[in-house]
Amino acid sequence: MIVHFHVDSTHSCPSYWYWCRDHYSIKTASGMSVVMACSVKIRELNAESSKERAAVIDAVNECYRGNKNWTNESAIVRGQRINPQKLANDLKHMTVLVAVVAAGEQTERIIGCVQTGIVSKTIVGPLSNPAGYIGMFAVHPDNGGKGVGNKLLNAAEDFCFARGAAEMVMDVLDVRADIMAWYNRKGYRTLPSMSFPARNVIPAGGEELLIDCNFVRMSKTMTRSNLHDELLDS
Ligand SMILES: CC(C)(COP(=O)(O)OP(=O)(O)OC[C@H]1O[C@@H](n2cnc3c(N)ncnc32)[C@H](O)[C@@H]1OP(=O)(O)O)[C@@H](O)C(=O)NCCC(=O)NCCS
Repeated sequence: MIVHFHVDSTHSCPSYWYWCRDHYSIKTASGMSVVMACSVKIRELNAESSKERAAVIDAVNECYRGNKNWTNESAIVRGQRINPQKLANDLKHMTVLVAVVAAGEQTERIIGCVQTGIVSKTIVGPLSNPAGYIGMFAVHPDNGGKGVGNKLLNAAEDFCFARGAAEMVMDVLDVRADIMAWYNRKGYRTLPSMSFPARNVIPAGGEELLIDCNFVRMSKTMTRSNLHDELLDS
């Protein structure tokens, strides 16, 4: 997909020049308007590629546990969110979608990811019907706040709907008011009866829980009408 950004002369140099710099073009000769074309593609992770797996691990750990994204877990959990073993296990039954930008003629750079697929349970408990799952959702801080997260979430919903999901679910730490508000805007509702203490999960992998809180399940009913035209390139 090509995204065009219009910038007029009253704005300073936009931060998205950094991540789009290989793809921008000047539209007018007057200097009053700039049009940039930048291409973010969503596709499945190449699970055979150790380089791609490493890029996902680095991005997820930096996004969740660093303090650079507009929303993150750095004040809630310390330690690595994901490691090579956990990712390998997850990839046995889940798919990781990645957001990539071109980085040269033949190569792509991973700038974000989301883990998705059909599940019958989540951390907070079993599901009455299999549902589409959202997890390990991250966009590198250099690229955050520019719509890549939206594209990944949309692609994961489309991916699961195409595989029969009538509902999307995710587990969110209940102290994350900012991201829960965004998920609300995207149609997700918190299920008040579905809650599980984070301290029962998080110390397991060498992580440290800094705030006592709970995982809660958020859920969205999927219908054809809430699909996106953001078709997956895979
Ligand atoms: C969550 C995350 C994936 C979002 O990615 P992103 O590329 O920044 O997301 P987008 O640019 O598509 O923006 C998503 C929404 O956040 C909003 N947003 C952007 N900056 C914001 C800010 N500073 N404060 C509040 N909302 C903000 C956008 O307006 C947009 O809302 P809209 O769809 O209603 O317009 C990314 O911030 C991240 O990796 N965070 C750390 C990992 C994490 O917390 N994952 C989720 C676990 S539940």
